[in-house]
Amino acid sequence: MNKRENWKSRVGLILATAGNAVGLGNILRFPSKAALYGGGAFMVPYFIAFFLMGLPLMIIEWIIGKYAGKHGHGSMTGILGLFFKHASWARVLGSFGVAIPLLICMYYIYIESWTLGFAFLSLFQKMPIPMISDNPQEAVKPYVEFFRAYTNPSITAYTFLIITLAINWLILQRGIVKGIELTAKIGMPAIILFGILLGFIALSSRDWAGLEGLKFIYNLNFSGIKDPKVWIEASGQIFFTLSLGMGAIAVYASYVKKREDVVKAGLWTAGINEFIEVVIGASIAIPAAFAMFSAVAIPELAKEGTFRLGFMTMPAVLMNFPLGWLISFIWFLLLFLAALTSSLALTQPLIALFEDEMKWSHTKSVTVSMILITIGAHLSAFVPNFIDEIDFWAGCVMLLLFGLIEIIVFVWIFGINNFYNELIQNTSLKIPKAFVYVIAFVSPVFIVLITYFWVIKDFTSIILVSEPTKIFARIFLLFIILFLSIIAVKSRKIVLKDLRYLKVITK
Ligand code: PHE
Repeated sequence: MNKRENWKSRVGLILATAGNAVGLGNILRFPSKAALYGGGAFMVPYFIAFFLMGLPLMIIEWIIGKYAGKHGHGSMTGILGLFFKHASWARVLGSFGVAIPLLICMYYIYIESWTLGFAFLSLFQKMPIPMISDNPQEAVKPYVEFFRAYTNPSITAYTFLIITLAINWLILQRGIVKGIELTAKIGMPAIILFGILLGFIALSSRDWAGLEGLKFIYNLNFSGIKDPKVWIEASGQIFFTLSLGMGAIAVYASYVKKREDVVKAGLWTAGINEFIEVVIGASIAIPAAFAMFSAVAIPELAKEGTFRLGFMTMPAVLMNFPLGWLISFIWFLLLFLAALTSSLALTQPLIALFEDEMKWSHTKSVTVSMILITIGAHLSAFVPNFIDEIDFWAGCVMLLLFGLIEIIVFVWIFGINNFYNELIQNTSLKIPKAFVYVIAFVSPVFIVLITYFWVIKDFTSIILVSEPTKIFARIFLLFIILFLSIIAVKSRKIVLKDLRYLKVITK
């Protein structure tokens, strides 16, 4: 049997999981969603979703992750199996919790490679020269063209994709402690430092005009509360940013030492993530764009999506500053570090699946995982619509549904009392039982309602598509699920044999 690694230190563990959660979601996706859905109107559902869904699920994933780790499992295939005596159906259901991060990683890593590419292009002063204009469309134009040419994809883009894949490969090959934990120990402090620096630059620019951008986000109001779309997007953001609903937190939790207080660790993870999202993330992109182009331009700019804000609007704004190339470099380096610590986390569930369930060696597990991701990253680079389609299905729909499955299995089927006992055994914090009732009843109702409204509103238009590339993306998605399901069933025998063996030697 492979020996499972443990995180070396408490700080390392917390930084690694914070690195898992803190990613492009905090610095790019959050501000563009907030801008698109009206700033303060978005934040009310956002905070409600955080408390009713995000925090409870975070604690669940930590608890079950630790519990499963003690039994030698880290991937959702193994974890769900563990709860149902390794019945095939449970393991297949768990495969969804491996498919989601794998699919997300396939495009996430490609976007990560853009951030590295743009960081270098900024450093070597190869970015377009800024146009002085109050008209945002005009000012952003050179950067739009530059971005289009880059992601066409250009040879530069392809080169940086290969470099990014190699970096991930190398770190993952070094394992949990020497790879992931070490990267987080260097990366997280740098992320916080660069984030605060850029936030300060953005807010203070043009005589603190950037503050208006922050006010726009924090102008809390209830105008979005009746719009299901805002709820879906806000909840989707909570799942995405906290890395929930796909076993990415659970897999990290499975490597904790026996005595670790996982409830505290969960609170730390959520706390650090939210600080980097609603304080730092809110203080950079939107304020910078506000300072440069005034308020009317913002929803306009956000409409064109996350990439527009990060890769076109932001460089257009930052390059106007004195030493603009340097600030732009720091911006993309910040994005790269945040993305890197997340792409490692998106790959680890698959590695854990191969190691824990198939009993493959670490090297073989990492190699096969990275080959799959390399294939997916190429599809993201060369097949139009692939990124959006996979992001929608894996990064939004499947995430919500799997979150629901997690609650049903780990709280209802495991039993509210059992879950509560597991909870209090694992922490020195006093947790009221009411918290478990919120997890058991409020969180699932919340998820069901959101999915329900969303389904009623747009379902047919979502399901029916005619573009061949979108159909291809969906077929590919099904293929990945099928592949992982086959592994789930095949590895069952290996796991059961191992269990029998364990029984014999412990008798
Ligand atoms: N939470 C990460 C982000 O905000 C994305 C992510 C999701 C990472 C799931 C790992 C697992 O960018």
